[in-house]
Amino acid sequence: MTRLRRSALLSLVLLGLVAERLVEVEATGCFPAIFSFGDGQFDTGGLSATFPTILHYDHPPYGQTYFQKPTGRHSDGRLMIDFLAEALGLDYTPAALQTVLSDYTSGGTWASSYSTIASVSSGNTAGPGLFLSPFGLNVQLMQFNEYQQTVNSVVATQARLKAKAAAGFTDDSPSENKKKQTKSKKTRHILQELDAEADMESQTMHPTAVNATLLELEAPTMRLPRSGSWGKALYLIATGGHDITNQYNNGKNIDTVVAGFPRLIGLIADAVRQIYRAGGRNLIVFDIEPQGCQPWLLTRIPHTADDLDWKGCLIQYNAVVQNFNKMLKSEVAVWREGYTDLNVFYFSQYDVKIGLLTNDTAGFNSTNTACCGVAGSTYNVNLMVPCGPPVMDPVTNITTVATVCNNPDEYLYWDGMYTTEAGNRYVMQQMLTGNFFDVPFPELTENCQLNPLT
Ligand SMILES: *[C@@H]1O[C@H](CO)[C@@H](O)[C@H](O)[C@H]1NC(C)=O
Ligand SMILES: *[C@@H]1O[C@H](CO)[C@@H](O)[C@H](O)[C@H]1NC(C)=O
Ligand SMILES: *[C@@H]1O[C@H](CO)[C@@H](O)[C@H](O)[C@H]1NC(C)=O
Ligand SMILES: *[C@@H]1O[C@H](CO)[C@@H](O)[C@H](O)[C@H]1NC(C)=O
Repeated sequence: MTRLRRSALLSLVLLGLVAERLVEVEATGCFPAIFSFGDGQFDTGGLSATFPTILHYDHPPYGQTYFQKPTGRHSDGRLMIDFLAEALGLDYTPAALQTVLSDYTSGGTWASSYSTIASVSSGNTAGPGLFLSPFGLNVQLMQFNEYQQTVNSVVATQARLKAKAAAGFTDDSPSENKKKQTKSKKTRHILQELDAEADMESQTMHPTAVNATLLELEAPTMRLPRSGSWGKALYLIATGGHDITNQYNNGKNIDTVVAGFPRLIGLIADAVRQIYRAGGRNLIVFDIEPQGCQPWLLTRIPHTADDLDWKGCLIQYNAVVQNFNKMLKSEVAVWREGYTDLNVFYFSQYDVKIGLLTNDTAGFNSTNTACCGVAGSTYNVNLMVPCGPPVMDPVTNITTVATVCNNPDEYLYWDGMYTTEAGNRYVMQQMLTGNFFDVPFPELTENCQLNPLT
């Protein structure tokens, strides 16, 4: 790529970033980056980059409240990690699968919508009519490891080029990098390109131009995680919801689903081990939210009034989630003992959301009805017509489209499964009070000069 084209491209990308960033925030310096894993709760565009345009949430009205356009986020606006980034004074983290020109200075997300702990590649099959992401938790960690190796190699190459520039390009072995053994093909390719460029430029160009080129080569690496980020960053995991509901879709009964939990928890433990090996030392593990209160599950599961608690949630289905969460919580305590220098915390969004149902001052007067959905059902959900583009019934040829409620801020659920921006903001506000962590996390909730959430 010529220098001109590359610069033009860069400006475009920067413009794009500026346009997406509507809120100006102060950097707090507490945690320089967020690296996240899991499902659609944290996916800022990864699955939609993998399957462009075909996903229902890649269409309006998704994104309407904040970004004014679909961004591959499963909400009308910002996700929990977007609010956390704001609180920490960081930029929103890009999805690692989105584009090579993404800005990773504040971290990135490897989370993938509809992903599971037990990944599709290890034989977990989607139930009828259900889609599971090919990027299960273990795949996300593999991708992250590859990313980390590549970043470290690029940064090392950049340092060598800098040294050459400082030495006035008298180095007579400009290809030394080619001898370097690197594990990854991709990494090797990048190194060769940088090397070739440096070789060519240094032979034919005036020193001033060489310096300019070096600056340009620096530009992409300026968008990589800041130095020291691997160890200082906040790592997040939120997953497991689809492992449970997919079993329901596969016709499994509740006892069978619960019997599979120890294996799932073990797979999360594998991911934690990998994060630790990658240098991660600050980790928050989110529990699973009260699925029995989700409008789509209330629609999906036939029930009578006796199956519901006083909050209108499915008693048995919430009990399953509580069972999972209890196991996860004790496992987190095991990791805390096992990895003495890992700061690991369990965050209960389950408790936050149950608390919300009893909180009259929180401003949500619709907590189990979808904001975006098809009118005519109790929970404003039509399982055949998700929020998004119109759907035509192949038999009747009748087209149906979901409509959006007047004030999404009054709703906890946006589309029946995922929460509104207002719901996400509320959960993050509650997280940052520190009241829902096991054990306390003062390095985040007390010692940080957190920005108020907007
Ligand atoms: C190029 O950069 C090096 C290192 O920063 C500096 O010492 C040198 O003076 C620069 N050369 C020119 C011609 O600008
Ligand atoms: C209820 O919601 C308000 C407004 O978001 C919040 O400030 C408060 O902490 C919540 N109360 C409880 C008990 O969660
Ligand atoms: C929620 O409450 C507000 C004000 O109290 C009211 O105007 C609005 O109609 C309510 N929305 C729903 C969905 O009940
Ligand atoms: C639906 O459309 C198809 C193709 O245009 C047509 O063949 C079929 O008769 C239509 N069905 C009904 C019920 O109108």
